[in-house]
Amino acid sequence: MLDEKIKQITDSFQSDIQSVDDLKKLEDLRIKYFSRNGLISSLFNELKNVSKEDKPLLGKSLNLLKNKADTEYNSLKEKLETGGPESGEKIDITLPGNERQIGSKHILTQTLDEIKSIFKGLGFSVFEGPELESDFNNFEALNFAPDHPARDMQDTFFVNKDFVLRTHTSPVQIRVMESHKPPVRAIMPGRVYRNEAVSSRSYCMFHQVEGLYVDKDVTFAELKGTLVSFARQFYGENLKYRFRTSYFPFTEPSAEMDITCYLCNGNGCKVCKQTGWLEILGCGMVDPNVFKSVGYDPEKYTGYAFGMGIERTAMLKYGIDDIRVFFENDFRFLKQF
Ligand code: DAH
Repeated sequence: MLDEKIKQITDSFQSDIQSVDDLKKLEDLRIKYFSRNGLISSLFNELKNVSKEDKPLLGKSLNLLKNKADTEYNSLKEKLETGGPESGEKIDITLPGNERQIGSKHILTQTLDEIKSIFKGLGFSVFEGPELESDFNNFEALNFAPDHPARDMQDTFFVNKDFVLRTHTSPVQIRVMESHKPPVRAIMPGRVYRNEAVSSRSYCMFHQVEGLYVDKDVTFAELKGTLVSFARQFYGENLKYRFRTSYFPFTEPSAEMDITCYLCNGNGCKVCKQTGWLEILGCGMVDPNVFKSVGYDPEKYTGYAFGMGIERTAMLKYGIDDIRVFFENDFRFLKQF
């Protein structure tokens, strides 16, 4: 009797599960077979009434039915829940796809790319040096006197007594000259560090591009010609400029280059502090002492060098008034470029 029923219910379960194609029907199936009063549970109840001799065999085939039905039920449940084609869910193939957001280069990278491509066009190659730099390359070889204020702990992150986080890209000049004979013509971009209070105008880390040209008979006129050509390409053809005398330990004579303020066109405003001028870089003729420290003969060679901040350059070009925005990764800022 019971073995007949087991066969019947096995067959009916097989045929019922065939027609289950959504979760609602699956739930009906579960109630019909597995709930407390379901068909399979009721077979177990009936097992109590069979004779001792028949029990083991019937119990076994009943367990077989239950396990097999369980397995099939669970695997179908998983299929329907994860939404395969069997889930019966209607897919609207006319819906637009998820748009993939495409990133873009950071504005500092874009600015540096532009600076690089202008100087490449002027015959400069590109070198890089390490951010952890020796005190010798960062200061001594660049003719900083031992008591020069720039060596002060206030400005410089010392790693130990011989190494610093470079405070400018000028030490890469030393590395390039130590590893190459003249003529050398290169720009050297990179990250630099200064132990300064963070504000809208200064940050503890920023980027610079250094430039160096050494050969026989290099003149200050060539320095001016190169930098004016750069500034015209970068800031605009009609730009007005001036060179002011300045001081850097590693150049003699030294100068700073100004361009007319982009905001007020030279009339005077808050950005240019009413002067009408904006400083864009420092430059000068390489000091003979620097040549001596890298083993170049200062009687034979002359050269010029220059350095500019990349953040500052981008701020001037795009009218950005706070240096901190470069490092905050705020999409609203980054997306504009
Ligand atoms: N190293 C200087 C600074 O950090 C910038 C600079 C000025 C670099 C004049 C030069 C130079 O090569 O000739 O402010």
